[in-house]
Amino acid sequence: MSAIDISWHERWFAAYADRKIAEAEAGTDSGPMRLKYQHTCRVLANAQEIVASEAFSHRLDRAVLLAALYHDVGRFEQYLRHRTFNDRVSCNHAIAGVRVINQEGCLNSEECRSLIAAAVALHNRFALPAHLPEAVRRITLVVRDADKLDILRLMDEQLSGKGDCAETMVYGLPDNPFLASKNIIAAALAGRVASYADLTSVGDFKMLLATWVFDMHFPVSVRRFAADGHARRLLESLAPDSPHATARAALLARFDRLDK
Ligand SMILES: [Fe+2]
Repeated sequence: MSAIDISWHERWFAAYADRKIAEAEAGTDSGPMRLKYQHTCRVLANAQEIVASEAFSHRLDRAVLLAALYHDVGRFEQYLRHRTFNDRVSCNHAIAGVRVINQEGCLNSEECRSLIAAAVALHNRFALPAHLPEAVRRITLVVRDADKLDILRLMDEQLSGKGDCAETMVYGLPDNPFLASKNIIAAALAGRVASYADLTSVGDFKMLLATWVFDMHFPVSVRRFAADGHARRLLESLAPDSPHATARAALLARFDRLDK
């Protein structure tokens, strides 16, 4: 486990989340914001696991952990203003996060603040720009892997009926097992990450989440992706006679191989 102490920042973040949740409670359900705080804690734990399995410098380790902690800081303002986490109908929460970091000054005493801010800004891009400074690329890749591992857990919980925010999570998509996007299925079969722009149904969304396995960058995160069982459970909930069937079987076989 990393010996890096970011406890001041963890306390700052908890107090900030409390402040924003209190603002929300005046007029709306704060449940989704509480989930985002819990998500942040888990993403940080995932990033710690990745950092512990790699041999980065102390400086890079610290920047990674801070980027993981702050990656979704923009979600609170986004929800307060727009009552949604859907960037396409509200704002880019990663850019909003950098604005919060700058306004609040919470990274002002950190040597690597510009690297951390860059990773926060980039963490939700569909693909990263080709020519990033190596440190920014590494930090961002850890945050993205750590983030995806926890989003997968959260989606599995919500879509398996254990959570109460499923509607917020699936962006109001229809839950019709026979609605499927050709592009999503093609991406799954070709070993590519599927795109949100192609979503037509909850089944597509489950498949899209499973294709994230093609965008995991560290051996420990690839292992976790398969071993955690969330992607498997999401895929198994798709009907075997649905249009997703062939891609479903191919992805399940892949998880079997990874989990051996
Ligand atoms: Fe995010």
